[in-house]
Amino acid sequence: MDFSRTVLVTGGSGFIGSHLVCSLVDRHADWRIINLDNLDYCCSPRSLESVEDKANYTFIRGDVSNSRLLNHIFNTENIDVIFHLAAKTHVESSFETPSTFQRVNIDGTRVLLAAAHQARHQPQLFIYVSTDEVYGASLDEVFDESSPVRPSNPYSATKAAAEYLVRSYWDKHKFPVIITRSNNIYGPRQYTEKVIPRFLTLLQMNKKCTIQGTLPKSRHFLFVDDAITAFLLVLEKGAVGEIYNVGTGCEIPIMQLARELIKMVKNVPEPEVNDWLEFVPDRPSIDLRYPIKCEKLQQLGWRAQVSWHEGIRQTVKWYRDNPNFWSDAAEDEGPIRGGLEQSTDKAAPS
Ligand SMILES: NC(=O)c1ccc[n+]([C@@H]2O[C@H](COP(=O)([O-])OP(=O)(O)OC[C@H]3O[C@@H](n4cnc5c(N)ncnc54)[C@H](O)[C@@H]3O)[C@@H](O)[C@H]2O)c1
Repeated sequence: MDFSRTVLVTGGSGFIGSHLVCSLVDRHADWRIINLDNLDYCCSPRSLESVEDKANYTFIRGDVSNSRLLNHIFNTENIDVIFHLAAKTHVESSFETPSTFQRVNIDGTRVLLAAAHQARHQPQLFIYVSTDEVYGASLDEVFDESSPVRPSNPYSATKAAAEYLVRSYWDKHKFPVIITRSNNIYGPRQYTEKVIPRFLTLLQMNKKCTIQGTLPKSRHFLFVDDAITAFLLVLEKGAVGEIYNVGTGCEIPIMQLARELIKMVKNVPEPEVNDWLEFVPDRPSIDLRYPIKCEKLQQLGWRAQVSWHEGIRQTVKWYRDNPNFWSDAAEDEGPIRGGLEQSTDKAAPS
């Protein structure tokens, strides 16, 4: 079959990537969707089981920083669009293994850009999926796309560095790039190290939600379906060379998040909620909040459609209906993903 467009998604087996891949494969039968992913510990093959037999879906297991592989892909496939999501994403781990984050997030982006730029078939668009964390924390300033970049942890520093590489290809070569910076994204199938699935998994194991430190941390939460709609809109209507914030006004203090989830999962009255909370020491540096403005994206016609109430209801239901999703994946992978229980012991926002 002849396809009208070929889209490469890196990191397409991860949380956001798998939702993006499923959406692209289902909506665009005439597009070929290639997923390049090295299947890190945070992936489950079940995330993509609904598309794995589809004629317009191809999976390539590989490392985004492998230049031979990337050059081969770009010289043998006519890639029109790239969504670059492959990354090490767990902030806490980035303090322990910063060099791994640098290799994948910065070097991987460098290799991917170079391969895409030298391809015989020139891509029409390279979308880099970045994060609001590149702005660093703010107590009162609301960041727009022109705000200074001041990342404050090893993860966000690597995302910011990769952004600069992406932007240099636009500045120097007019290679068509767009950068998105999104809030905390949540929803079904997110790996248990991130705050919402972590709280849910702890509660399902009859353990307490662990709150790090005493500072009033909060996050803006965006439901994954709304994030995917934003990425697809940027693909169709975004201006090359631009940055788009992707976010909501839905700011939830982490303590309130824990209390809401305890009530939903444990079905306990207010006076008993505290019995399910445990306070643990803070991590080395934690940003209190990342408020962003999304007017540029709204001008393209985007609005978040899923309320917090609806998004968290769907998410809690999914984890309730799929209690063994991540433990089964751990068994499939053996030692690669070992320590799931350990990883749920401490909960940080992102
Ligand atoms: N989750 C969020 O709240 C959020 C918010 C803003 C931006 N982002 C960005 O979105 C992207 C996806 O995030 P996510 O939450 O789905 O993360 P995730 O950890 O669930 O997925 C990351 C994916 O990248 C893959 N990967 C890791 N190293 C790789 C390598 N060397 N080669 C190929 N693939 C590799 C993993 O196997 C996994 O499939 C990341 O770039 C992240 O920085 C995430």
